[in-house]
Amino acid sequence: MHPERCTVLIDAPTLAARVQALGADIARRTSNEPLIVVGVLKGSFVFMADLVRAMPDAHLTCEFLGVSSYEGTQSTGAVSLTQDLRASIEGKHVLLVEDIVDTGLTLAFLKKTLLLRRPASLQIATLLDKPSRRKVSIAPDYVGFEIPDVFVVGYGLDLDQAYRNLPYIGLYHPPAG
Ligand code: IMP
Ligand code: MG
Repeated sequence: MHPERCTVLIDAPTLAARVQALGADIARRTSNEPLIVVGVLKGSFVFMADLVRAMPDAHLTCEFLGVSSYEGTQSTGAVSLTQDLRASIEGKHVLLVEDIVDTGLTLAFLKKTLLLRRPASLQIATLLDKPSRRKVSIAPDYVGFEIPDVFVVGYGLDLDQAYRNLPYIGLYHPPAG
C-alpha cells in the first residue's frame, strides 16, 4: 500500500455530507415503497453502507451482484457477471448502486441484464460519474459527484484490489518510470 501516491480529491466530510443528501433525496422520491438496493461488488460496498444508513426510515433490503471489467487503470471492455443476485427482483422496485460510471459499458450491461427480469422500476445511483469518458449513452438517476477523466481510488474504489480502505477519494499518481 502506498497512500503517499494519493492526493485527496474528495475528503471524508464532503463525502459524508453528499451521501446524506443523496439518501434523503432517494428516500423522498421512493416514498414508502419497498426497495431492493443492489450493490455492484466490490467497488460499491463502502458507498452503499453509508447510503442505506442515510435512509433509516426506508423499507429496504440489501442484495449484491458481482461484475468485473477492469485490470489496472484501463477497462478491458468485456463485462461479465461474476456473482448473481440471490433474490428475485421481478415486480420489485430496484436501486442499483455503483461506485463510478466511466465508459458506461458496465452499467449498460447491468441495466439490460436486470430489466430482462422485469422489476417494477430500476433506478441507478452512482457515487462518481466521469461523463467525458462515455462510450455508450447512459445516465444514472442519482450522481454523488461528477469528476474529470482521472483515475481515483479509495472509499471502495481500487487499483488492482488495493486502496479500497482509504476513507477519502484520492487521485492516484503512478510511480515515475
Ligand atoms: P465502465 O464500465 O467503464 O463504466 O467502468 C465501470 C467500472 O470501472 C467501475 O464500476 C469501477 O469498478 C471501474 N472504474 C472506472 N473508473 C475507475 C477509477 O477511476 N478508479 C477505480 N475504478 C474505476
Ligand atoms: Mg464497479
